[in-house]
Amino acid sequence: MRELNALVLENVRIAENIYSLTFATEEPVPVRCGQFAMLGVNGFPLRRPIAICKAEGNRVTVCYQIKGAGTRTLAETYKPREHISVLLPLGNGFEVGAGQKRVAVVGGGVGIFPLVSVIRAYCAEKEIYAYMGFRSRAAVCMEYELRRGKSLVISTDDGSLGRRGTSVQAFMDEIDKIAPDVVLSCGPVPMLRALKSALSGRGIPAYASLEERMGCGIGACLVCVCDKNDGTHARVCKDGPVFDLSKIVL
Ligand SMILES: Cc1cc2nc3c(=O)[nH]c(=O)nc-3n(C[C@H](O)[C@H](O)[C@H](O)COP(=O)(O)OP(=O)(O)OC[C@H]3O[C@@H](n4cnc5c(N)ncnc54)[C@H](O)[C@@H]3O)c2cc1C
Ligand code: FES
Repeated sequence: MRELNALVLENVRIAENIYSLTFATEEPVPVRCGQFAMLGVNGFPLRRPIAICKAEGNRVTVCYQIKGAGTRTLAETYKPREHISVLLPLGNGFEVGAGQKRVAVVGGGVGIFPLVSVIRAYCAEKEIYAYMGFRSRAAVCMEYELRRGKSLVISTDDGSLGRRGTSVQAFMDEIDKIAPDVVLSCGPVPMLRALKSALSGRGIPAYASLEERMGCGIGACLVCVCDKNDGTHARVCKDGPVFDLSKIVL
């Protein structure tokens, strides 16, 4: 992990309330899919954790939704040629085993962003079946990236694009047809809970990236601790953010 003073190349709106920020680091940073960055935002003592969507050479792209004051400041004040302080790469990331050929990725809301990096990393060697859920048509973004796999099913809560309903429902309707060897997911807790319960008893390995509130992002403050089924705890920033879905309490 390194602290870098990166140069903003682009920071543009790509959907309702959602921005794509690309910055350049002085040297290339090796990043695994599902890892994240802590972005320093001027005026805010705590950095903001954001998944890395793309890392090509020394260019890194993250996508973020304006949620509160920090992400609003990020969208409104970081223009090309300005500098941004970033800590990266952080967390464990997703890994697909050599014998796991058919990979289902199930995302919802801002949870689609770490899965973009999974699709990019594995689309050439695996069969990727993507199920992505958005609030409405206005929130749909990164479609080109999400289509790199074998198939993509988009769902929206209001039915304004694709299927009406959640990505978990869309996935479960096709699970027997696609017979995934592994399921990778990210999204809000109710979505992950629904996925965990739908997969229970099927014996398919499933992993989820958690979006817990964070303080330091490097394992020191314990703000991000989550509970595991065996009664132990884990730091989402350092031990995760990716966990075996069957082993975490949601
Ligand atoms: C590993 C990880 C990856 C993430 N990836 C993305 C992404 O790719 N795109 C995206 O839009 N969002 C992502 N998030 C959520 C994002 O970090 C929050 O939306 C953001 O920190 C909100 O900051 P704010 O100042 O706008 O909101 P505020 O609510 O004002 O934030 C107040 C404080 O709470 C923290 N906080 C609030 N909500 C969250 C949250 N859901 N997760 C973690 N910390 C939070 C903030 O970092 C800040 O310290 C990710 C979170 C985690 C943990
Ligand atoms: S955010 Fe500080 S320990 Fe995880």
